[in-house]
Amino acid sequence: MQDTDRTVNVGLIGLGTVGGGVAKVIARHRDEYRKAYGIDLRIKRACALDAERAAELGFTGDTFTQDWHDVVADPEIDIVVELIGGEHPATEIFEAALTSGKHMVSANKALLGRHVERLARLAAEHGVQIRCEASAGGGIPIVNALEHALVGNEILTVAGILNGTTNYILSRMDAEGLDFDEVLADAQRLGYAEADPTADVDGFDAASKVAILSSIAFHTRVTTDDVFQEGIRNVSAADIAQARSMGYVVKLLGIARNTESGVDVRVHPTMIPADHMLAGVNGAMNAVYVVGDAVGETMFYGAGAGSFPTASAVVGDVLALADAISHNERVQAEIEPFGRVLPLRSIDDLKTRYYIRLSVEDRVGALAPVVDVFAQHGISISQISQLQDDGEGHCSVVFMTHKAAERDMASARVDLEALDVVERVASVIRIEDVEAWTEGAEANE
Ligand code: HSE
Repeated sequence: MQDTDRTVNVGLIGLGTVGGGVAKVIARHRDEYRKAYGIDLRIKRACALDAERAAELGFTGDTFTQDWHDVVADPEIDIVVELIGGEHPATEIFEAALTSGKHMVSANKALLGRHVERLARLAAEHGVQIRCEASAGGGIPIVNALEHALVGNEILTVAGILNGTTNYILSRMDAEGLDFDEVLADAQRLGYAEADPTADVDGFDAASKVAILSSIAFHTRVTTDDVFQEGIRNVSAADIAQARSMGYVVKLLGIARNTESGVDVRVHPTMIPADHMLAGVNGAMNAVYVVGDAVGETMFYGAGAGSFPTASAVVGDVLALADAISHNERVQAEIEPFGRVLPLRSIDDLKTRYYIRLSVEDRVGALAPVVDVFAQHGISISQISQLQDDGEGHCSVVFMTHKAAERDMASARVDLEALDVVERVASVIRIEDVEAWTEGAEANE
């Protein structure tokens, strides 16, 4: 029990799924925070457009506003929590709050994925902090782990299932042998996918999250635009079944590696061995696999979205700030301005094995020009199998390659598409060299 309570005032902007969760978690535990930390954590003012929703959460009169300026202009507010998402007016909220000396807590991956460095500098200039645990991996305390608990390591690899919607879809395609469109429609009906699923299924959401995590892990600048991005629309049930038969599963991974030739950061459907720890992460759950040079392999697992899991991460950040504020301590930074700018490695320089499924004419000699294209681009084939009859004189043929350069695969793909015998290049899936993820970890030596 603390002798004296210090009131820390919070301004909460956004009362949607996560904002509502934050209000409820703080209301539920406020007495415990007071007892444990000597902090009276008070949501002094909440901002939302929907007054009815605000009233349901207990915000009326002076504690409610529809204008975010009222929150950032309030001199008594110590911490602003931004939970509206998107770039505007979130950018303006960050700028106004930081320049008026308020700490920021946010789950805004779209904003932080693009502007984390600039905003972190602005925060540092004004002696305040940005904390963003909820922006990647929802309730999983991965940002804290990278920034604090693992800071004694050089982080070599971060590989994550960072999007619950796509993991749900791929898991069901795998378990039930269903195709993408069918599962997507069902996921939308059940509320696992948005009516406009683009941000999730095309990899935008995961790209923002891996940009944030790699910036923090490698102490360098990686923005969403630096992340190579490919979604899961072209992955079929046939691909997933074929992957299984060869000992792989297909996951949408955000992969970030600090290699000698630069930071390699990408989001794409990936085949990984079925016995890898990430392969067993199913449904809407998230997981982040991290390799540090000292710690070796670690994995953090949990709910990547949802009202209370995400609120858990937000409130953790708020309490860390409130604890430091109440002791007049310098707040431990979660995002510092980055000390270095590491070169980024182009996707063209990736060398990996590939799975390629082509729909080709089902006739004698049809594969000869196809094999020729691979040879012309210096791509060595390790396996060919005919999968299924695609109807109308076509069949699906799968090629597995030895390691090849992405740039060669990209140009081979163009030539394959131009062949008369090829109806279409149905899917190209990278087979990740997971052994490389742990290279350089002393724990493995
Ligand atoms: N749309 C995200 C997901 C959750 O499906 O994981 C919020 O980041």
